Amino acid sequence: MRVVVTGGAGFIGSNLVDALLSDGHHVVVVDNFSTGVVDNLHRATQTRRCQIVEGDLLDTTLVADAVRGADAVFHLAANADVRFGWNHPWRDLEQNVAATINVLEAARASDVRRVLFSSTGSVYGEAQVIPTLEDAAFPQQTSLYGASKLAAEGYLGAYAEAGHLSVTVFRFVSVLGPRYSHGHVIDFVRQLARDPARLHILGDGTQRKSYLDVDDCVAAMRLCLPRDPRFEVFNLGVDSYCTTTESATWICERMGAKPEVRFGGGDRGWIGDNPFIFLDTTRIRSLGWAHRRSIREAVERTVDDLLAHPARLDAPAEDRAAASEI
Ligand SMILES: NC(=O)c1ccc[n+]([C@@H]2O[C@H](COP(=O)([O-])OP(=O)(O)OC[C@H]3O[C@@H](n4cnc5c(N)ncnc54)[C@H](O)[C@@H]3O)[C@@H](O)[C@H]2O)c1
Repeated sequence: MRVVVTGGAGFIGSNLVDALLSDGHHVVVVDNFSTGVVDNLHRATQTRRCQIVEGDLLDTTLVADAVRGADAVFHLAANADVRFGWNHPWRDLEQNVAATINVLEAARASDVRRVLFSSTGSVYGEAQVIPTLEDAAFPQQTSLYGASKLAAEGYLGAYAEAGHLSVTVFRFVSVLGPRYSHGHVIDFVRQLARDPARLHILGDGTQRKSYLDVDDCVAAMRLCLPRDPRFEVFNLGVDSYCTTTESATWICERMGAKPEVRFGGGDRGWIGDNPFIFLDTTRIRSLGWAHRRSIREAVERTVDDLLAHPARLDAPAEDRAAASEI
């Protein structure tokens, strides 16, 4: 198949690109390299089956040209930052909604029916039911990021309902693993690499979150590629959660650090931080998918990868400074 991956130079996208290439597909990466990096595509560019289109999804001509002739589009490109949304109130609308409409219009114009979309567990806001099912009551949004992803899901649903597209939406918990670039693990590793005697944790450390290893995330996405639904939604996550303090303990142990830990205070890290995220994954498991790595294994693998690539710990651009999807 010829498969387009928007955001293919990013953390999850580049792992997906490698997997699709190893499955024998031809892959077209569309990325503006705003947060994606060329290095993530090092393995992909060893094969002739990978084409890279450098450009912005807000450029309608570029998107139309990239999508034409494809069998499917994985649309991952987005502003993936949650925490600093209020510093840029239009960014989520442009990057996560307008860019998505451009992808959908390009697909519709070229009769590319299959679109798979990376949404987020953040759309559930502060869910009333935990573990949270895909058909949870329509949630109150708690971040501009979540609101924009939910809006994008709405557009995908409308295109599907009109018969233009076959859509799969994935709502991920926070994803960890090689090439990870934003979130609490890099924030903690960065702090400890600078000063192993001190660690500052946002909130009171009791926030409960579920995390998923990127290999498990990509395995679920691959599994769904051949499907032909009108519109379907899958939660992707593991069957457990941990507290931020537990995760910090694993990171410290992995790095051999025994820091004095300071907490920012309060039951959440920032406005819009959801203190308890845990998704019900019965639906995706009914397709035969199961996660292979535990949260702890995913955290440790991420630490190892960051320490093996210290350049990734360099001072981040602007507000990628700390947890985005924590
Ligand atoms: N990482 C997580 O924990 C997580 C959790 C839930 C959902 N998601 C979603 O998964 C997707 C991938 O996230 P990620 O963590 O790999 O983020 P990332 O920032 O590493 O990847 C996003 C990619 O999209 C590209 N991009 C952004 N805007 C673009 C535009 N207008 N035109 C072209 N390219 C553009 C970036 O350069 C980058 O390569 C996103 O849609 C994100 O919202 C991520």
